[in-house]
Amino acid sequence: MLTRCVVHARRGVSAYGTFGRRRDGSKLLQQHANKSAVGSGTARTRTLSHAHAPKNTADVSSGVFLGSGALNAGARVEVNAQTLVLGIETSCDDTAAAVVRGDGVVLGEAIASQAAIHGPWGGVVPNLARAAHEEAIDAVVAAALAEAGTTAEALSAVAVTCGPGLSMCLRVGVRKAQKMSAQYCLPIVPVHHVEAHALVARLCAGTEAVTFPFLALLVSGGHNMLITARGVGDYTILGSTLDDALGEAYDKTARLLGLPVGGGGGPALEKLALEGDPTKYKFPVPLRQRKNCDFSYAGLKTAARMAIDADIGGGDGDDVEWDGVDKRQTRADIAASFQAKAVKHLEERLKRAIVWAREDTPDLSCIVVAGGVAANATVRSTLVKIAEDANLPLVFPPPKWCTDNGVMVAWSGCERLALGLAESAVDADLERKHETMDPRDIHCNLLPRWPIGEKDGRATRDNIKSAKTARIADPLRGADGDRNISGSSVRAAGIE
Ligand code: KG4
Ligand code: ZN
Repeated sequence: MLTRCVVHARRGVSAYGTFGRRRDGSKLLQQHANKSAVGSGTARTRTLSHAHAPKNTADVSSGVFLGSGALNAGARVEVNAQTLVLGIETSCDDTAAAVVRGDGVVLGEAIASQAAIHGPWGGVVPNLARAAHEEAIDAVVAAALAEAGTTAEALSAVAVTCGPGLSMCLRVGVRKAQKMSAQYCLPIVPVHHVEAHALVARLCAGTEAVTFPFLALLVSGGHNMLITARGVGDYTILGSTLDDALGEAYDKTARLLGLPVGGGGGPALEKLALEGDPTKYKFPVPLRQRKNCDFSYAGLKTAARMAIDADIGGGDGDDVEWDGVDKRQTRADIAASFQAKAVKHLEERLKRAIVWAREDTPDLSCIVVAGGVAANATVRSTLVKIAEDANLPLVFPPPKWCTDNGVMVAWSGCERLALGLAESAVDADLERKHETMDPRDIHCNLLPRWPIGEKDGRATRDNIKSAKTARIADPLRGADGDRNISGSSVRAAGIE
């Protein structure tokens, strides 16, 4: 099976990198790119040397999160085709794992989606999510290893998302990683979920095409932000959402329209929108009066709800299942009008972020758009034009690596391992002691609220204030701010 990563190159030049793997795990690479447009993106077999290390490595390595201490006293590790990293992701509602080779070859991946479990509830229910992760985790990891044709003994390291996300869900993945680390004496790499969404673009388009610094737009169910990525662990937030993330707004509006959201509200709404007139409803483009890079989707969501109440009816619409026939055109028009303004907002913010980023980072290599909503075709085609106008390549991971997945975690693990941002194996004696304890009493350094970086000085004062007053961890550091925050407040707070 081949996975396609699309690199929209500079104006007038298109470049597509297509790659995959053979069942024996050997690399399969076909590159049709115009090299001058995207750099020497053909060099897929690589050693992660990291010319662009974070300015202050201590920022991202300080603090022992999950293992026995800094690996090799924090020294860099050569990461190459012999390096095999297992990645584990359980931060929200997907249990995912993957085995990725240090040169960027994906050997195996597996995922257990919980969409069907949470669909009827209209949002992720933390207790149900934890139970589903617990049930799936062993099988998902085993499936990823089996598909990779390898065993835990052969791994070089295990990487795991330890934040941001739902504490009780993160714990499942972290405990699995800690057990494997102790049992197979594997270094353990703590991974930042949002960073992983951004870094996976370097795996699929090549580290030579997506060099630091780059601009990233990350849009998913829990995150909505624009960042300048200067190096692994070195990010500046240009803007983030004041309320809902776009994926969340898609999910909610899809439910109000009565769409089946088992496979995700976003894809369902996107499909219905194809039949609608995007100009029919005059919804507002959010935050036009604020000349910054922040986002807001609560108002647009409310406008869609009011249109649904007025023109479709059905109580608050929340739990009314649509038969697929009733007022189909009206629903499609609302879906299309919602999507048009939602994407317009992304477009306007991205345009400004390009200007902001270039003011202090003129050498941007590209724009990366990632996170679940980056799978949306309208988002993709709209943002291509913005990047072309800015004369910057645009990189989208393939849709299956836009939504949560194990590959992004494993790859992030490779990147961090190379920089010495990994920890020695979990102490086997300690882990044996853990086996006898109530799991809830086992201390594992989860970072449910873990900002990816500092806010840019041009960002809103309001946001700076709320970031300061919130009990949150230091950006990409070990100091844990709040281990017990509930799932709903994580979402409500729009945690990045
Ligand atoms: O990145 P992701 O898997 O999880 C989080 O980190 O939140 O993103 C999931 C979100 C969901 O809200 C889903 O509705 C949205 O991404 N999404 C989409 C599409 N595919 C997934 N939204 C709009 N259009 C899509 N095609
Ligand atoms: Zn995500």
